[in-house]
Amino acid sequence: MTSRITRYLAKKYLRFRDRTDALSEEGEAILRIDRRVDAILRMVGGGSDTELAIVHAEQAPGTRASLRDFVRALELDAAPAKFDADAIGSDMQGWGSQSPLFAEVIDKLKPREIVEVGTWKGASAIHMARLARAHQPDAVVLCIDTWLGSMEHWDFDDVRRDLDREHGFPRVYHHFLANVVKSGLTNHVFGLPLSSLTAAQLLLKRGVQADLIYIDAGHAEREVFMDIDAFWPVLRPGGIMIGDDFSWPEVQRAVHRFARLQKLEVASFRQKWQLQKA
Ligand SMILES: C[S@@+](CC[C@H](N)C(=O)[O-])C[C@H]1O[C@@H](n2cnc3c(N)ncnc32)[C@H](O)[C@@H]1O
Repeated sequence: MTSRITRYLAKKYLRFRDRTDALSEEGEAILRIDRRVDAILRMVGGGSDTELAIVHAEQAPGTRASLRDFVRALELDAAPAKFDADAIGSDMQGWGSQSPLFAEVIDKLKPREIVEVGTWKGASAIHMARLARAHQPDAVVLCIDTWLGSMEHWDFDDVRRDLDREHGFPRVYHHFLANVVKSGLTNHVFGLPLSSLTAAQLLLKRGVQADLIYIDAGHAEREVFMDIDAFWPVLRPGGIMIGDDFSWPEVQRAVHRFARLQKLEVASFRQKWQLQKA
């Protein structure tokens, strides 16, 4: 396996190196990838960790764009138009969505651009938006979710009911949007109904980065690792990534594995884990 990965990375390395002159405006980004590929080549032999780290190395940031420009370009801000929020009952169900860690991190970082991966009905996104607006009146929280639920939402009878299915299809997005409208945050909290990995690719392709990223989507080790790995390049240098359910062994393993690969320190506070980008 090692030689297959080495050949693959070496080929990729040469391709990026060959492109450096032709793509002078992207030179800096390519050189950054170059260095990552170098680091991975040094790690080859690390087994599945190395294979997963390839996902990270393949992604090149595009031209820089603000999160608000991204929202406008995709017309995510048009979602509340003609939406009858009062037709949906009030229901701000969440889990650890108002943890004191949010206030601590937001007071320290004063983020203007926040990405949440895993939103459900919007409890944590709305909480973060309120906190961030105290420092940055123009703060934006981009919520990435399929709004189809995680494995647990389908596995446990009581939570499955919360999917509020219509003709078999969950209406969680409607609850999210109703909560955003009722909170008066339609100019600050926006939904992007995509799978996490697809959304990360799109953000990178459009050159969007965030100051703060909250990871709270799938909770299997593989899902958590992939989400952290996919969104790490979306995090601005100096930014903070936090995530939920650190007491879950699968979550812990994923966070520690990523931190080991990137030589990062994991901080934790009750249920939440935290990584800071240099
Ligand atoms: C635990 S809930 C989020 C709770 C929310 N952060 C809060 O505190 O209120 C997890 C959410 O992740 C979403 N999800 C799970 N896997 C996903 C994936 N691969 N891509 C996008 N969303 C996903 C589910 O639809 C669900 O809404």
